[in-house]
Amino acid sequence: MKTGIESIGFYSPQYCFDLRKLAAERGVDGDKYIHGIGQSYMAVPPIDEDVVTMGANAAREAIEKVDASAIDAVIFATESGVDQSKSGAVYIHRLLNLPSTCKVVEMKQACAAGTMGVLSALGMIALNPKSKILLIASDIARYGLNTAGEPTSGAGAIAMVLSANPVIMELDYRHGTYAADVMDFWRPNYMDEALVDGKYSIRVYLKALTEAWKDYARSTDRTFDDHDRFCYHLPFTRMGIKAHSYLYKHCGDSVLDEASLPAQVDASLRYNRLTGNLYTGSAYVALLSLLESPDEQLAGKRVALFSYGSGCLGIFYSGVVQADYRQYLPANQHKTMLEQRSELGYEQYVSMYSTRLPIDGSEFMANKHRTGHYRLAGVCAHKRIYESTN
Ligand code: HMG
Repeated sequence: MKTGIESIGFYSPQYCFDLRKLAAERGVDGDKYIHGIGQSYMAVPPIDEDVVTMGANAAREAIEKVDASAIDAVIFATESGVDQSKSGAVYIHRLLNLPSTCKVVEMKQACAAGTMGVLSALGMIALNPKSKILLIASDIARYGLNTAGEPTSGAGAIAMVLSANPVIMELDYRHGTYAADVMDFWRPNYMDEALVDGKYSIRVYLKALTEAWKDYARSTDRTFDDHDRFCYHLPFTRMGIKAHSYLYKHCGDSVLDEASLPAQVDASLRYNRLTGNLYTGSAYVALLSLLESPDEQLAGKRVALFSYGSGCLGIFYSGVVQADYRQYLPANQHKTMLEQRSELGYEQYVSMYSTRLPIDGSEFMANKHRTGHYRLAGVCAHKRIYESTN
């Protein structure tokens, strides 16, 4: 039985900020952000969008052409959760009118939670081939203003229906893993912004990559050259380029010329360069960016996927793109969504960044901004109120 991706939805906020403008404000050479880090824009969520509304927008698109009555679980992966107890999945379950027989849960292990959700879904489908699982990875990557992490901020959500009808991509459950208790990036419950030991986090990412690769290669007998394309967790796009070259040098079995490496990752970097880090969704936005690239013919090609979640967990696995994959991807909608965003000026960016929900339970009604089909209307009696915008 084949299992994998039947549909994909993607959403990123409708406001963005140009990293050249940020560089000018921070007194940094713009080329550092554009080329050194590899980011052109960051997506900026307004106060009436959070991981639930972004996730609901992505999920709405993912279930548009799928028999939603067959969805029997919603797995919500995030590290920007809105409640310590209630899962984001259950809000989205209501917003999308999913069946009451559907299971709902939220998962966390930094950016690796999306892939833990995928692997869990594949296991559930193996036990019940009729099942369709809605996996949503939604996050706001938020660092302090004027910190080294700031240019790697971003936001958005990706949603996939995983099932035994993987018309986009068959996923192989066999994977390699590396876990270790490290403090490279974390966010204590009392903080809004992530704390990070940036350079150390890059070293741990690369260690997790090579160790997870070795475990994967052992369990699948595949070599580097068995893979046509590689999608990495992208905290910023240069990380994907660095990771690919590092893996090539350390896997020890490639006969490829080094000059062929960029073609194996370039198409996966396009969307992230415009949105910034999506944490749990990042590796899958890389995959979508690759699949929707007009320059790629991917039918039958094996794509490697590496997810890295700080703290840390690395997971390496792969899948094969299916023959008619293109017809199931709303590539033009995604292009339009990213092209029609409103660009913020610096003052607007700082103001949007600094507007926060009250933390003392006082009532709050959020100003209306450009959003997708769902928005956070406010907070009343400690309860978040979500509404449809149409
Ligand atoms: P930094 O220290 O400001 O930057 O922070 P840098 O000095 O390392 O420079 C970055 C690159 O720009 C360097 O290239 C410079 O040479 C180059 P490299 O040496 O790496 O090849 N550069 C220039 N290039 C062109 N023209 C110039 C120029 N100047 C310099 N004029 C850092 C960078 C990524 C550390 C920072 O942004 C940060 O801390 N970000 C957040 C943490 C992060 O993204 N870590 C990545 C690995 S951990 C991860 O992926 C997990 C995560 O997603 C969270 C989760 O799992 O939940 C973060």
